[in-house]
Amino acid sequence: MEIFNVDPTAPKKNPQWYAYPEAQKDFIRHPRHAIESAIVSVDDDIAAQEFDDYAFVASLIFEASRLRIDIPGRFVNAFPGDHYRLLAALIKLAQPQLMIDIGTFTGLSARVMGQYSHKGSSVVTFDVTPYDEFPDSVLYPGVCKDFDIEQKIEDLSDPVVFSNNLDLIKSADFIMCDGPKDNRFEPIFLRQLSQVSMPCKRRWLLLDDIRFMDMIGLWRAIQSPKIDLTSFGHFSGTGLVDISKGLILKA
Ligand SMILES: C[S@@+](CC[C@H](N)C(=O)[O-])C[C@H]1O[C@@H](n2cnc3c(N)ncnc32)[C@H](O)[C@@H]1O
Repeated sequence: MEIFNVDPTAPKKNPQWYAYPEAQKDFIRHPRHAIESAIVSVDDDIAAQEFDDYAFVASLIFEASRLRIDIPGRFVNAFPGDHYRLLAALIKLAQPQLMIDIGTFTGLSARVMGQYSHKGSSVVTFDVTPYDEFPDSVLYPGVCKDFDIEQKIEDLSDPVVFSNNLDLIKSADFIMCDGPKDNRFEPIFLRQLSQVSMPCKRRWLLLDDIRFMDMIGLWRAIQSPKIDLTSFGHFSGTGLVDISKGLILKA
């Protein structure tokens, strides 16, 4: 990367931003949040080229543009910018029966799934920290009961835990993966998922933060039909993968 006109008085908080040309500095230095990423070609990503369910994607985006989410959260209705309206639209339109949410945190994604799915559907959300340890949690026992949301304090990157949850994973119609992004959990989880022989049915995987430096390679390795929906989702990268025939991951 070329470095010119480095400003010695610039705030030290995000050192990588110094590296940009003067003319770009203001755009890069002053957003609410900036994360280092990379721009990579898509014409040579065969799984992206193979994705063809644009009727679904178009209806998804249109639905997301119209709905507003009635759950507290600073960014919950940011569209584009965050993924919750897209998630709500996806759940509304795809009508999954069984949903898996990986990375509960304060419960926003799990609650959106519960609230926008039809009656009789259920959500199982995984984390290593219980939702009630987060002060601004949007999950509590009443909400979990009303929307059939169950939290499991389990780590699916552990092969034993994964295997204990195999029936659940095979039955899922929708999986959202928004875990720690520690360059460990997601590659391990997706590798294990790719080894599961799944019954063929309509099934989606929504992967958060696919534009993180550590996630770009993993996103590229996905060989099931996929589409990068970042422009209508989370600014850090929102990927939708058609895993109706299971997940195919480059060896
Ligand atoms: C980005 S947050 C998830 C955000 C959440 N989906 C939401 O909508 O608010 C990531 C979460 O992953 C959790 N996490 C860390 N390691 C994990 C693991 N091995 N399995 C599942 N979740 C994990 C963290 O505790 C954190 O709550």
